[in-house]
Amino acid sequence: MTSCQAWPEPVVRVQALAESGLSSIPSRYIRPLSQRPSNTTSFTPHNPSQTHLHHDLDSGRGHGHVNIPVIDLKHLYSEDQVLRKKVLEEVAEACREWGFFQVVNHGVSHELMKSAREVWREFFNQPLEVKEEYANSPSTYEGYGSRLGVQKGATLDWSDYFFLHYMPPSLRNQTKWPAFPPSLRKVIAEYGEGVVRLGGRILQMMSINLGLKEDFLLNAFGGESEIGACLRVNFYPKCPQPDLTLGLSPHSDPGGMTILLPDDFVSGLQVRRGDEWITVKPIPNAFIINIGDQIQVLSNATYKSVEHRVIVNSNQDRVSLAMFYNPRSDLLIEPAKELVTKEKPALYSPMTYDEYRLYIRLNGPCGKAQVESLASQS
Ligand code: OGA
Ligand code: NI
Repeated sequence: MTSCQAWPEPVVRVQALAESGLSSIPSRYIRPLSQRPSNTTSFTPHNPSQTHLHHDLDSGRGHGHVNIPVIDLKHLYSEDQVLRKKVLEEVAEACREWGFFQVVNHGVSHELMKSAREVWREFFNQPLEVKEEYANSPSTYEGYGSRLGVQKGATLDWSDYFFLHYMPPSLRNQTKWPAFPPSLRKVIAEYGEGVVRLGGRILQMMSINLGLKEDFLLNAFGGESEIGACLRVNFYPKCPQPDLTLGLSPHSDPGGMTILLPDDFVSGLQVRRGDEWITVKPIPNAFIINIGDQIQVLSNATYKSVEHRVIVNSNQDRVSLAMFYNPRSDLLIEPAKELVTKEKPALYSPMTYDEYRLYIRLNGPCGKAQVESLASQS
């Protein structure tokens, strides 16, 4: 497999389509009945009648709503070993049981989080011609894009995005980042620094929780100066027929771990839990963390990546910033030797991330098909 140089069809910007005022969506965005976003367990903050749920899959956490676990990191570096251990245990349980959790008191400035959302909203609110200067291609995906995958005739998602490299420094090229608003490059450089630092802490906790040396995952990803970090800013325009389409198709994140800053007002992210889709209720100033396929491989499936998708609505646009924390792309990723035993042999054979991500780059989001196909081969 090699990567593609060009999109298979003319690119349509979903935001432009939405702003044209159409009342029904083009057939390219309409999903088959079985894949439409009906039939979900959700917590919708804008609709109080839905806040009481029939199921309580989460151990409840005292709220009575289904939501992914929320973990307070305040005591992570506490002198008090009991408090510190409790944080580690909460993270361990969330990784094992959910693969998705939110963190508060994470150390990243709330002001910076707010500015990061604002600069990207400003970027997307510019005229189309300005954004087109950053149009991306499937060879690197860097820049302004409107699809994932290059299959001709594929059903498309109701979103546009901007994708950029933050780490390693050798791939960071600020001239490829939007020049407007003027503060964007500086805000995103600072935001990246804070989020990457947080990512390092979370990798450390996961390593310890897996019974590995605390720098195991960071080193497996190439170490501090070689680790990959890419930002995808998703823009989900309002949609006149939100029940027929998705903002982002079901997928697991192909990389190591994702740190998502969701929209502060509009929900939309759904996480698969058995046969249900749970709408995440974002907590103010929290980040959403999820396990990607590479940590599933490295942990020999002690931790699993979890399928998720995004639904859209007819009232409000939604912006989210996903920082993908990835292995350096040419390193072989395989289950940690310490986690391979007679009872639990290695489930995956070694593969570089460069090779791994070609699949989603060619085929687009396909649930957990890729990581599951790897396991069945061995
Ligand atoms: C992603 C993703 C979720 C969201 O970008 O991979 O899952 O809420 N985003 O935008
Ligand atoms: Ni994702």
